[in-house]
Amino acid sequence: MSVEPFAWRDRPSLIEHLLPAQKISAEAQKERKAGAGQTLTALGSYWKGRKPLILVKACVLGALLPATDDPEADLSVFEKLMAIDDEAFLRREFLPSCVDLVKRLHSRREMSVEDAGRLFEIRRRTVVEDKTVWVLEPFSIGEIENLGRRALQWKESITDPERHAWQLRWIQSFTYLERVSAAKRPEELNQEPLFEPIWSQVNTHLGTQAGSLPELVEQLGILRFGHRPRVGDTFCGGGSIPFEAARLGCNVYASDLNPIACMLTWGALNVIGAPEVERPEIESAQAALGAAVDREITELDIEHDRDGNRAKAYLYCSEIKCPQTGWVVPLAPSWVISRTRNVIARLVPDRTRQRFAIEILAGVSAKELEEANNGTIRDGEVIYTLDGETYRTDFKTIRGDTRLPGGQTENKLRLWEKTDFMPRPDDILQDRLYCIQWITRETLNKGRQVTFFAGITDQDLEREQKVEDLVRENLPCWQAEGLVPDMPIETGEKTDEPIRTRGWTYWHHLFNPRQLLGLCVLRRAISRDTEFRQAALLVSLCIALDNCSKLCSWNTGHPGSGEYTAHVFYNQALNTLFSYSARSVDHICKTILAEKKRFAQCFGGTVRSLPANRTTQPVDLGITDPPYADAVTYHEITEYFIAWIRTRPPAIFSDWLWDSRRPLAIKGSGDDFRKEMTAAYAAMSAYMPDYGLQVVMFTHQDASVWADMAAIVWGAGLQVAAAWYIATETSSELKKGGYVQGTVLLILRKRLQQQSAYRDELVQEVRAEVARQIETMTGLNQLAKGSGRSENLFEDQDLQMAGYAAALRILTAYSRIDGQDMAAEALRPRQPGSSDTVKEIIDFAVQVANEYLVPEGIARGLWERLSGPERFYIRMLDIEAGGAKKLDNYQNFAKAFRYGDYTAVMGSTKPTDARLKTALELKRAEFEGEFGKSPLRAVLFALYELQREVDIDEVISHLRDLVPGYLTRREDLIELASAVAAKREIKAPAEAQAARILFSRIRNERLG
Ligand SMILES: C[S@@+](CC[C@H](N)C(=O)[O-])C[C@H]1O[C@@H](n2cnc3c(N)ncnc32)[C@H](O)[C@@H]1O
Repeated sequence: MSVEPFAWRDRPSLIEHLLPAQKISAEAQKERKAGAGQTLTALGSYWKGRKPLILVKACVLGALLPATDDPEADLSVFEKLMAIDDEAFLRREFLPSCVDLVKRLHSRREMSVEDAGRLFEIRRRTVVEDKTVWVLEPFSIGEIENLGRRALQWKESITDPERHAWQLRWIQSFTYLERVSAAKRPEELNQEPLFEPIWSQVNTHLGTQAGSLPELVEQLGILRFGHRPRVGDTFCGGGSIPFEAARLGCNVYASDLNPIACMLTWGALNVIGAPEVERPEIESAQAALGAAVDREITELDIEHDRDGNRAKAYLYCSEIKCPQTGWVVPLAPSWVISRTRNVIARLVPDRTRQRFAIEILAGVSAKELEEANNGTIRDGEVIYTLDGETYRTDFKTIRGDTRLPGGQTENKLRLWEKTDFMPRPDDILQDRLYCIQWITRETLNKGRQVTFFAGITDQDLEREQKVEDLVRENLPCWQAEGLVPDMPIETGEKTDEPIRTRGWTYWHHLFNPRQLLGLCVLRRAISRDTEFRQAALLVSLCIALDNCSKLCSWNTGHPGSGEYTAHVFYNQALNTLFSYSARSVDHICKTILAEKKRFAQCFGGTVRSLPANRTTQPVDLGITDPPYADAVTYHEITEYFIAWIRTRPPAIFSDWLWDSRRPLAIKGSGDDFRKEMTAAYAAMSAYMPDYGLQVVMFTHQDASVWADMAAIVWGAGLQVAAAWYIATETSSELKKGGYVQGTVLLILRKRLQQQSAYRDELVQEVRAEVARQIETMTGLNQLAKGSGRSENLFEDQDLQMAGYAAALRILTAYSRIDGQDMAAEALRPRQPGSSDTVKEIIDFAVQVANEYLVPEGIARGLWERLSGPERFYIRMLDIEAGGAKKLDNYQNFAKAFRYGDYTAVMGSTKPTDARLKTALELKRAEFEGEFGKSPLRAVLFALYELQREVDIDEVISHLRDLVPGYLTRREDLIELASAVAAKREIKAPAEAQAARILFSRIRNERLG
């Protein structure tokens, strides 16, 4: 190999100059949308917020590739390596049939009638002398609508390059989003053929001799760092960064404070990333586990009925004693069991015992189904009917909630003790089995099982009793052996819930006797296996745990999907339930075995459980996704899993501390957050060479996050080289929260010089750098358009981000500003109301970046005179005119322009269909605040009046009243009105027309 070690040591990385952020955003969203089809989700969907692998790939390659003096060629090579260039889509199975191709290109006038006749022929099946034969006929475009998709074919005389050129033209006729949504993800495809055609161009540009991504990565590593690149992630979480880096061929060093994160990262590298020879071993371990557990459970005879049917799910509900009637009432928010099969539970009064029998009825009418949907606990009230009378009691009354002087509440629920595993007879809340879903004996071993629902029989209760007795007898012993948790639940933001709402104080209280027994059998079978297999199976145990506790709700199904037991961590909390479903052990084992087996060769790596500030691992590249203010409380919710592993970890995991180490987890915001993050990044940079690079991913919230990040960068001795904004969330996720979150990539280098400056000098320098950055990027946009791309390389939000980054690049290059040591200043605790130099400088930088981003058609002078809300409105008009509709644009710019109440001017805040109010929609409202008093508001009001056919003189007279110093601002008003006219032309032509009338009138107004 002739690549010279360290030849590129001092060359800037591509990611410091360029990154096709729009394309990567589209790819990242596509990956997110794959849901359970995402590669690492196979290890457990309970870990939320894994970063998209395609984003990690972009970071690794972007950090290793050089930025040369030919940015276009750099970008082209990067896109090929990411398989996001136009041609890659042909290999990503986004290929047209000949009919599709002709239809689309002809309708877009990109293929003439003659071309079509020259390129294609029709293949028809006819019968000649009783034999079917294929005949070829000339093609004329008039026939296209009558042809099936396969009836047209390329003529044999058409060469591959010509065919390819037409197919490429077809691809280019789609927007990037359209292509991505129809194509396969690059990682889903066989890598060799996917990348095979790119190597000669890549090697020519880079001077390498690679034939695969890992070969290239190794050579790039040698050129930059003298060896295969070492990538470190000290906040590795679910493992996406180490996994993708290892898959690309890097040596990876991952660590996390949390042992479950370590286990998942280990699983990513060693189970999903297992070498081919080890894969059968993992699969056979899972199969053997299933068989061993099945044997034991079958021998215990606790899941089969007398007819040989086997349980799939057990449905339980809570019961309470009604204070009004003394009756025992079963509680469930709904008594529907199956919506697809019209199965319900019906409460039948049993007067002698003052309780309700529960009947299971199948095939009920739609009306009965809807009635059953009204459960006995609704909106916090227990509601039931007895002898025609409806009784309602606030559940809080039953639980005995009282408010304490400090504002907290307490209740009368008994706090469970370590020996408890089910409610005691006098507890307020009891547990009751009310229905079982059975798999018929005949279909037990069939791929498609037949199930039915049945009420509870005496034999079922005997089996329940047997389970209960087994648990009572053995629990202390199982706990001592580490097979069942004996760990108390520590109170916390999320862990308070089970304590407060159920009185559960130990982790094993979250499981009923049947679940405890089943999981214990599973855990014991795992602990008998070899060390490697134990480690792999514990990953599966955690998936079982996510499917098996009293926190699993019952989903009644809907058209197209049957009923099922939901996960515990469908969200990031520990929600207790009034009715829940317990999967049978058989079903749990099948759930584990049915896990999608995904494998992808990885180059291995090491995983350690360690606080980030204690890392001593030398790495060339640090790629991290640290915790931030609104992050998931991993340190609390993972205790649910830790409790099952901590006393008996296999040797492979035994060096890790099996504790969530809550106090060491970086969380929240403010001084501590900044201090701990600074220590973490200072430790990482201490073990990084001077020519190393860090990529930090964080959620863009507002300028205060930028200020925090800048402080951390300063404090850790780093400096900002670039920043990119990637929209990573999918619209379905957005529906839940109604907000959009993207990821900012902050690219950092070590700050090697001690430089000082004064703020006044910095102002000029920041301004110039922001201008240079934005001009370079808009220049690249134009170049790209010139070379046939239909879309911008960089959209406004990329420019905005790059503007911030440019400002930060200047600022963080200085270690002293105005005589202050910025590293120390960054760490200084902030007093509310006290001055904060870092924040002030960042605010200034943000402002400069935003000032510089002048929308098309607006003069810089006017832009500088506009208020934040006016800039927001004009900027968003500009973006809307370009067809963008995403709410995150609005959120980002509202933050940038410090327009807190921007929703007042929004016509829609739907995550993927957001828009501003038009003048007509603003009507006579919104005259308060900065926006309300602005000239733009006055112009919009004039447009409203004009569209309402108010006389133009009256309109002008109102405008004069609304704009103080009208005469001096006439030119501004003309410019604002003409901006609205230009930007509303397509979306609101009537408003554009009114704006044209307005500006001509102001322009021609006779003054004096
Ligand atoms: C945002 S998550 C990382 C997610 C990960 N990149 C992924 O794709 O799944 C942040 C991680 O930081 C870890 N963490 C929190 N405080 C830490 C500390 N002081 N040291 C090391 N890791 C910490 C958490 O356990 C969590 O796994």
